[in-house]
Amino acid sequence: MADFRNTLMLPFQNEALQLPTTGENWCVLNADILPLPESIPAQILTCEQGLRPTFLELEAQGYSVHPTLEELLNLDGCLVLAHRSRAVNERNMLRGWNGLKPGGILVFAGDKTAGVQPIRKWAGKLTEIAGSLSKHHAVVFWLCKHGDPWKQDVLQKPDSSFEREDFRISAGMFSANGPDTGSQVLAEQFDNRIFGRVADFGAGWGYLSYRLAKQCPRIEQLDLYEADWMSVKAAEHNVATAPAVAATATPAINYHWCDLTSEAPRGPFNWVIMNPPFHSGRAAVPELGNRFIEAAARSLPSGGRLLMVANTNLPYEKKLEALFKTVERKDQAKGFKVLEAIKGSR
Ligand SMILES: C[S@@+](CC[C@H](N)C(=O)[O-])C[C@H]1O[C@@H](n2cnc3c(N)ncnc32)[C@H](O)[C@@H]1O
Repeated sequence: MADFRNTLMLPFQNEALQLPTTGENWCVLNADILPLPESIPAQILTCEQGLRPTFLELEAQGYSVHPTLEELLNLDGCLVLAHRSRAVNERNMLRGWNGLKPGGILVFAGDKTAGVQPIRKWAGKLTEIAGSLSKHHAVVFWLCKHGDPWKQDVLQKPDSSFEREDFRISAGMFSANGPDTGSQVLAEQFDNRIFGRVADFGAGWGYLSYRLAKQCPRIEQLDLYEADWMSVKAAEHNVATAPAVAATATPAINYHWCDLTSEAPRGPFNWVIMNPPFHSGRAAVPELGNRFIEAAARSLPSGGRLLMVANTNLPYEKKLEALFKTVERKDQAKGFKVLEAIKGSR
């Protein structure tokens, strides 16, 4: 089914813009698989995608893809695909514009519901919008590079929205405005019982691991698994180097950029803790959480424990009861429940 990626290709199909040619320098930010014409090999585009499942798809399709592109320079063109975070969109537009050579083209596309209009308005205040098209409930607009680079202060939504207790968090990550309520409810359960090799599934910017390292002195090794590259990098700062943790005898800590639905964590673990992802767009769907529970069950030996938090209305008990020997509700507060499951010998 056609979506905003098809809309992105419209100005190239109707020749308002020239397709990239071999030898030109084009990049794609927040990249995804594109409906490219056969004449354009995927590897002609240098892609940035920090979300591991999409990164793996791009790689499998032959795209040249990196979790992050440090410096964008001398670009003939830059395609920016809309992110759900306005601040990430602004940041990517600024990076793309400043990386273009004079006359280079910056193209932005996104669903109408993904906040594309405010970005077009914002960009229109910085330079002339060279063209714009709308189809498939989505909008594409483009700019032609001239004049000076944009300064950081053009960003309306600054990058770092939360800095406290030395946490480094930036826009686009889960709970970018500070610790999630569900995660705080879960962390109240962290104590001496949690020991040995422990994994944090969907670790985000590291809040739960930070609390584990602070509150559970019997942990010997802590492994963080997270699909978002920027979050992994933030966690590297937030967990091990946070003064409150660094001052204690910290466990060995490993960080894994990993898609838990397709890549196996390096267990076995004594404990897995998690606040699993449950959103697809704006809808709450337990399917991704169920995949996390399956991954936890596979990486725990008999007697190993899973401790997780979820919105009280998400029905994870059925999956837990199918895969674990016992399931217990340890706490319920502020719309969340904490569930503990013990693995049997099966
Ligand atoms: C509800 S958030 C919890 C984050 C963090 N543990 C906390 O408590 O603040 C779930 C996390 O799972 C990550 N995630 C989503 N899909 C994933 C996948 N397939 N593999 C690994 N992590 C994933 C998300 O990026 C997000 O950071």
